[in-house]
Amino acid sequence: MVPYRELSKEELLELKSSLEAKYQEFQSKNLKLDMSRGKPSIEQLDLTMEMMDVLNSHSDLTSEDGLDCRNYGGLDGIPEAKRLMQEIMEVGDEEIIIYGNASLNIMYDTVSRSMTHGVMGSTPWCKLDKVKFLCPAPGYDRHFAICEFFGIEMIPVPMTPNGPDMDIVEKLVSEDEAIKGIWCVPKYSNPQGYVYSDETVIRFANLKPAAKDFRIFWDNAYCVHHLYFDDTVEILNIVGECKKAGNPDMVYKFASTSKISFSGAGIAALVASKANIDDIKKQLAIQTIGYDKINQLRHARFFKNKAGVLEHMKKHAAIMRPKFEAVLNVLETELGGLEIGEWTKPKGGYFISFDSMEGCAKTIVAMMKDAGVVMTNAGATFPYGKDPKDSNIRIAPSFPPLEELELAAQVFTICVKLASVNKLLETK
Ligand SMILES: Cc1ncc(COP(=O)(O)O)c(C=O)c1O
Repeated sequence: MVPYRELSKEELLELKSSLEAKYQEFQSKNLKLDMSRGKPSIEQLDLTMEMMDVLNSHSDLTSEDGLDCRNYGGLDGIPEAKRLMQEIMEVGDEEIIIYGNASLNIMYDTVSRSMTHGVMGSTPWCKLDKVKFLCPAPGYDRHFAICEFFGIEMIPVPMTPNGPDMDIVEKLVSEDEAIKGIWCVPKYSNPQGYVYSDETVIRFANLKPAAKDFRIFWDNAYCVHHLYFDDTVEILNIVGECKKAGNPDMVYKFASTSKISFSGAGIAALVASKANIDDIKKQLAIQTIGYDKINQLRHARFFKNKAGVLEHMKKHAAIMRPKFEAVLNVLETELGGLEIGEWTKPKGGYFISFDSMEGCAKTIVAMMKDAGVVMTNAGATFPYGKDPKDSNIRIAPSFPPLEELELAAQVFTICVKLASVNKLLETK
């Protein structure tokens, strides 16, 4: 494969017309494909259907501590659900609250409460002139959307395969009291699938923030979402590391079963120090009398423990792995050696991250749309939707059936090639 950069203007023009012909061929197929959001496929959701049979009208709906799950009570969750989530989230018997159906809502609430009421007695953020968050980028668009909604200034921090650039994180956090938080997806990050190294976790735990109400928002959304069960990746427990480092209150750890059981109909949890949890519970007691304990019971009885969850996740992996591999194969076969794009090869999670030549991502996504394939908007993986290099594209292989996915990946490579040729021709 000859890198496109080495082609002459004539060769590029020739290539352009053959690529345009291929693109039009795809356009004429009237495709309707979607590689935009990281939703589980129907087959994945089917894996959990038996959970619906765990409880029925004859079931004893009493939790281990004797609470009638049909009634009010149990603000922070039932013991068996707490234990299950503690195991999945790889914490010991740290303080935990089991919330409702999904974790994004906990993250939103956590920011919202800090804005209106502050963090453990500190000045509410809304009373400060400026509140800033560090945003490792590319990252999860919905994290950034929460900041934008509350008028929190976002500062992008470059990502590396070992996690955010910690030199930058340490410097900024220690110098600027307006920095109150950082978003982290430490395992199989969204969208790159990167895993934070032990060194990164330890450096996080040892941060010396200027703001005493600075918190690490540790979103462990993909904690058990391995693609290769013979090559799983584990990370250090940030809550334990923060405790060891003398910073027990500095982290909130979030997770849910959204992509384990049913998306948006799972159970979600927050782990933090006792001081944080006590502070949060004061708000929680105003906000709700309690979350859905019947769903908590259903999850605890269906999965039983972490081993049960991992067995279940193997079935997810068997569906997801061929899809990831299909996309990666097409990328490698069609784009390998051309030097017009780079992509990650994750061992878990929900996404593949693609970086095109600078200034091409928006064009590629627009071309995909015109060919009937919906992708996540270019730029969505950066704060304010602005990718300074206009190069990052998030590929979500989970939802479409395998054949459709292969076709979508083919269309993608044509769009990448065409956009790159046009870019190179601009300077010839
Ligand atoms: C990093 C990350 N956090 C959270 C979520 C949403 O989780 P939940 O369904 O628990 O709100 C997603 C979903 O894509 C995600 O990628």
